[in-house]
Amino acid sequence: MHDAKVFRSMHKERFNAEPAIFVGPGRVNLIGEHTDYAEGFVMPAAINLATLAGISPRTDGKIAIYSENQGEEKVFDGVAVSRSQHWTDYPMGVTAILAGEGHRIPGFSLSIWSDVPLASGLSSSAALEVATALAVLSLVGASYPGPKLARLCQRAENEFVGANCGIMDQFISLNAKKDHALLLDCRDLSFKLAPIPDHVALVIANTMVKHSVAGGDYPTRRRESEAACAVIASHRPGVKFLRDGTLEDLKKWGHEMEPKSYLRAKHVIGENLRTVAACEALLKGDMKELGRLMTEAHRSYSQDFEGSCVEADAMVALAADLPGLIGARLTGGGFGGCTINLVEQTEAAAFAEALGARYAEQTGIVPQIHVCHASGGAHRLE
Ligand code: GLA
Repeated sequence: MHDAKVFRSMHKERFNAEPAIFVGPGRVNLIGEHTDYAEGFVMPAAINLATLAGISPRTDGKIAIYSENQGEEKVFDGVAVSRSQHWTDYPMGVTAILAGEGHRIPGFSLSIWSDVPLASGLSSSAALEVATALAVLSLVGASYPGPKLARLCQRAENEFVGANCGIMDQFISLNAKKDHALLLDCRDLSFKLAPIPDHVALVIANTMVKHSVAGGDYPTRRRESEAACAVIASHRPGVKFLRDGTLEDLKKWGHEMEPKSYLRAKHVIGENLRTVAACEALLKGDMKELGRLMTEAHRSYSQDFEGSCVEADAMVALAADLPGLIGARLTGGGFGGCTINLVEQTEAAAFAEALGARYAEQTGIVPQIHVCHASGGAHRLE
């Protein structure tokens, strides 16, 4: 994570005021992809790559937002009412949603600095939303329970930014526990924590292929899987989300679905089962079974959901026979971004080096590989 001392003096120099600083972690999803908006299961962990948000009040009523990553500052006369297709939509969206909840938002200066790689499937957006939410709430002297605040941040992304994401990213960024993965039931937001054993490292390999939730593929896949759900619902009216769909339903009515929709649903229904099973395996310390489920999940994500890309498939395949690997799969929204590799801690450094070299040789792209650990949720830095 970036140096908070350096960040503090950056904010002071620019805005001439002492900031309160908040941390919003990025996340890696171990398993459970494109299941959250189907009210299904996901099992992410927060990581030690994070966004810092520093805030101080202003007396002129304006809202100034500066990003060190973008090298840009934008000043607003007050809370904006609609998006401007600019990176400030994320912090402004959160501010607007909080204003909509009845909070009177005073003028403020906000600095942002992130080491979560952008558009890489590690939830840089959620990290920014969550850090901003805690910052703005500190200014108005309010707070929310984590699950409720996650919903508000998700609304900022759905309603203000215009990206139709689920709840996973905001939820884990706010509610994560250090050294744990979290099995989340996206229907009622109940969750179970599963310790990640000390001997396991989270090796995150960035294909360097950019992915975007707002872009075309994510919403297309979402529509395709929801169309399959509508077919099941036409026979079983109780079914509102694919969470309630079964493999039996697919056998009976799959032929009524568009072939692509059928495959998307097959992925989502199978993925829910795998995700619950993966949590059980992790809780039992059965790493072999967890690895097997991750391999199966990647196959399904790539072939049935068609959510992968050549580079991500290569990154997963190139990891398969490296010493120390427990399981590897593409993580996050898909179509690029990062793979998650669970690797024996003692082998992690050598694994990262070998994978990077193999990938560069095969694709001509130099990847970024991060050996991470599961971190705690968003908080204020004292
Ligand atoms: C993105 C979205 C999440 C989730 C994943 C896919 O990260 O923000 O809500 O849908 O993709 O599992």
